[in-house]
Amino acid sequence: MDTNSFKYVLEKNTELNNHIKSVAKNNKILKICALGGGPGTELLAITKFLHKQQLGFSVSVDFQLLDKVQEWANSWYGIRNTINDTLQEMYGPDRSKWPIIPSGNFITCDVTQPGTLRNAGNIWGQDIYVINYLLSEIFKDDPGLRQFMREISSVAPSGSHFVFIERRGSMWLQRMKEIAQGADLIISESYESRLTKDSDELPEDLGDIFVKLSPIRKPRLTCDIVYSIGVKE
Ligand SMILES: C[S@@+](CC[C@H](N)C(=O)[O-])C[C@H]1O[C@@H](n2cnc3c(N)ncnc32)[C@H](O)[C@@H]1O
Repeated sequence: MDTNSFKYVLEKNTELNNHIKSVAKNNKILKICALGGGPGTELLAITKFLHKQQLGFSVSVDFQLLDKVQEWANSWYGIRNTINDTLQEMYGPDRSKWPIIPSGNFITCDVTQPGTLRNAGNIWGQDIYVINYLLSEIFKDDPGLRQFMREISSVAPSGSHFVFIERRGSMWLQRMKEIAQGADLIISESYESRLTKDSDELPEDLGDIFVKLSPIRKPRLTCDIVYSIGVKE
């Protein structure tokens, strides 16, 4: 698991960056779902990203995290509550003055079992789906996962973005392409990068909002990633 890959993609990928800013500006709410989100890495990343953007208005971040490991729920709610507490300390109790208003749920489910997901809360119709280090965790080319991706894509809004991030390797790149194509997504070119523990991930440089979280999240030193973004037409 790595800590900063999604945040890196949010900052580096202009297309994704513009999509988020446009949805935030037009709707004042960003709906995001992390498949295999584990401890809450993606919530932390999107909160850091939006906080840094200083858009000048308040954005509600409605975040749904799907994971088959129920034990991650404590970590996820802990991160969400700490973010809320810290925003309150920084901006006061009136949430309309906060740059980001995080909310959402942890949903325990197995994404390779699409039948069990049909009643799985508010995961349909999101602006962004994040598949971050999930494919290598599932490892095999699972037909259930492909089916699930087809189902969410079929009801996803036009223009919604599916962000695939994996450890670098042709096998994972090929897997993300096949899953995206099977779900009728327009897949971008792929991008590779080596991420190192940069200043942004040093606890002392995270800023007031995230210092409290440093005991929970321990950044890795380096990781090689490949990512690609699928867009629903
Ligand atoms: C390597 S972790 C990545 C966590 C997070 N996305 C990140 O990058 O920090 C993979 C996550 O996928 C979850 N996972 C693995 N197989 C799954 C499945 N079939 N359904 C749902 N979650 C699954 C694991 O429980 C774990 O939290």
